[in-house]
Amino acid sequence: MKKYLVIGNPIDHSLSPELHNFWIDKNEINAIYDKKKLEESDIKNFIQNLKKKNISGFNVTVPFKRKIIPYLDELSLEAEKTQSVNTIVLNDNYLVGHNTDIMGFERAIKSLNFNIKNKRIFILGAGGVVPSIIFALRKMEASRIVISNRTREKAESLKNQFEDIEVIDWGNTCNFDVIINATSLGIKEEVFTLDLSKVGSNKLFYDVIYNPSETQFLKTGKKLGNQVENGKMMFIYQALESFKLWHRITPEVNKETFAILEND
Ligand code: ATR
Repeated sequence: MKKYLVIGNPIDHSLSPELHNFWIDKNEINAIYDKKKLEESDIKNFIQNLKKKNISGFNVTVPFKRKIIPYLDELSLEAEKTQSVNTIVLNDNYLVGHNTDIMGFERAIKSLNFNIKNKRIFILGAGGVVPSIIFALRKMEASRIVISNRTREKAESLKNQFEDIEVIDWGNTCNFDVIINATSLGIKEEVFTLDLSKVGSNKLFYDVIYNPSETQFLKTGKKLGNQVENGKMMFIYQALESFKLWHRITPEVNKETFAILEND
């Protein structure tokens, strides 16, 4: 039996095992998908034992998407450009790192029939998933990308990878067509501190968070008359692209798939 898993810290909340095991069963694949909480100091040991443990691939989530890179033999072009890896394919003991968050975001936006071309984007946050979102937005030809992060330096450092982004102070807003919450604000009870009451209507409010399904950020967007969308489709499609890389099968996305994620 082939083994797959997701590593991260924290990892309890991850719904990747539910989703992957569902698709594994549906497609009658002889495999199992698990989750494992690691400390940074455990990574080396984990990599050394992959073969012994018969692991064929794994996902990487916060906070290891960049930290895993030194342990890999090869990176896909997208993983290289974003310096972010969420999927590893193992062949013998040769590890290839991929980034399926990019496709996940792109396909999620496309499933809304929303055209990003020439749109002005405002991203809140500068954490692990943001390079993938920027990469996807540029591919979809967004006209302008502005980033604001509580710790400004982290947003500034994204300029090393993406020269043409703009950075503004946390607390300020700019003119935009699409606003993306890529902070972790909303997962817990924290209050969303940014005042968005004056941004107006007819925009897209996109939250990377999918659990809870409607964060305060999305509630605010809705109240102001904007289109809102949570990160559910992005999560499903990044998993789907990982599944394709490992099993060479495209799983179905349907009501049953969505039901797996509706646990809040
Ligand atoms: P990491 O930063 O380790 O990659 P992440 O979950 O991908 O983790 O990112 C968390 C994001 O949420 C960061 O942009 C973080 O801002 P900082 O860089 O300043 O830490 C943001 N964030 C978390 N709590 C926040 C809060 N209370 N107010 C504003 N932003 C917050």
